[in-house]
Amino acid sequence: MAPLLEMRGISKRFPGVIALDQVSLAVGRGEVLALCGENGAGKSTLMKILGGVYQPEEGELFVDGKPVKISGVTDSMALGIAFIHQELNNLDNLDIAANIFLGREPRNRLGLIDRRKIHADAEPLLRRLGLDMPSTTPLGELSLARQQLVEVAKALSLDAKVIIMDEPTSSLTLAETERLLEVIAELKGQGVSIIYISHRLAEVTHCADRVEVLRDGKNAGGLAKNEIDHDSIVAKMVGREINYARSSPPAAEAKGHLEVRSARSGRFPAQCLSFDAGRGEILGFAGLVGAGRSEIMKAMVGLDPDGSAEVSLGGERLKIRHSRDAISHGIFLVPEDRRKEGLITDMSVRENITLPDLRSYASQGLLSRTRETRAAQEQIGKLAIKTPGPEAMVRNLSGGNQQKVAIGKWLAMSPKVLILDEPTRGIDIGAKAEIYALMRALAADGAVVIVVSSDMEELLHISHRIAVMHEGRITGFLDHSACTEQNVMQLAVGRSVSAAIPPLS
Ligand SMILES: Nc1ncnc2c1ncn2[C@@H]1O[C@H](COP(=O)(O)OP(=O)(O)OP(=O)(O)O)[C@@H](O)[C@H]1O
Ligand SMILES: [Mg+2]
Repeated sequence: MAPLLEMRGISKRFPGVIALDQVSLAVGRGEVLALCGENGAGKSTLMKILGGVYQPEEGELFVDGKPVKISGVTDSMALGIAFIHQELNNLDNLDIAANIFLGREPRNRLGLIDRRKIHADAEPLLRRLGLDMPSTTPLGELSLARQQLVEVAKALSLDAKVIIMDEPTSSLTLAETERLLEVIAELKGQGVSIIYISHRLAEVTHCADRVEVLRDGKNAGGLAKNEIDHDSIVAKMVGREINYARSSPPAAEAKGHLEVRSARSGRFPAQCLSFDAGRGEILGFAGLVGAGRSEIMKAMVGLDPDGSAEVSLGGERLKIRHSRDAISHGIFLVPEDRRKEGLITDMSVRENITLPDLRSYASQGLLSRTRETRAAQEQIGKLAIKTPGPEAMVRNLSGGNQQKVAIGKWLAMSPKVLILDEPTRGIDIGAKAEIYALMRALAADGAVVIVVSSDMEELLHISHRIAVMHEGRITGFLDHSACTEQNVMQLAVGRSVSAAIPPLS
């Protein structure tokens, strides 16, 4: 029997880039196919061809063995293909139900949108995904994680034959991810096919029936169910060794180099917390999503109008009212939602990297393009950003490479304190190791590095010490030797741990 969906010899070029070179892919009915590959390998581009976003220069598409042409998003939907994009494009001010049925709202006899039906249809979808909130909630009030689940609800509502999930879990919590994996198993049981893209290889090994790997825009081989394991995927993806060593204990330097006292966020106004970090230290912040970690970091750098914090660096008390104050003291935050807060995607890689510190590229009031280009090129090299050059638009880079630009723009400024919120979300395993190495190098140079991450493996791997938060407060600090998954989890749910150092009062 012909596969449900087949792509044959697909090629797609962009100015200066061959994104896909004669790529083939087939998906069977009720099959979960994982599509793996490094950042910029061509995964999203291949899926955008299925989704009708791009037209290939070469190649053919078949559904049920019959040739088809997908000229636009409507063609794709009509063929039963639902696409959950890597970068969400939701309308924040519409409610959940309106987003799910956007553009295909049921109408009543007067031709008006039937709101009652929209909500009645949306509610069971939300329950099915374990989203415990009314469908009338404006989307903008949801965390990125929950917005992603709304996208899944939208695909479910389309009754799709194939659901493409491009990095669906990159911002989901453990529990949310598990729920999604259950939903995938249910869908598969109902004969729905899934194309699953993720850099989290544990998920891939857990849910995939087959793995197809892309490398530099070409097929790099596949793995059958019984061949799928972490190392085989990585070997096909990168074809080289990855140095993945855990951070050794820090050379304990001046412990209280960075002192944060009475930090308070607008979200948890009744809680206030304090912590210290030393020069050369990588301090991890663990906690469940919603524990208030990002909010405290924003309060620290003047990005939370309702928050406040007393911050001292090297014994000097700093006045931080606005983010520009923090920047002028060398304290930078790479935010969680980089597309919204961290990047201007309609600008070039060079412009994004030099933007926070334009003054240092100017002489006599004129910007030095040469100096800017040099700085941009340095970060492109350091972070192995895959781009045709510094003048490429950020919006044209692959998802993971956009993340690297967001990190690069702060690294270029030699930070004294660098706060990274979910630094490697959506970043491939090789690039992760590179980013960890850069964080270590920055710390070894005397900077304080603070990492907020939901990726437990990452936190245990990179941190010298971990502060754990629960409902807006720190429940304990774990020294390097006490940093275990179990200790972190206990503190994260608000229990006490004997190996932990209690919070500063
Ligand atoms: N619209 C575009 N214009 C120019 N180049 C593009 C465009 N879209 C993608 N590219 C390039 O095509 C290549 C493949 O990108 P793609 O987004 O498919 O990668 P990916 O495998 O999804 O990576 P990631 O894991 O980072 O999401 C990259 O080099 C990217 O810069
Ligand atoms: Mg992608």
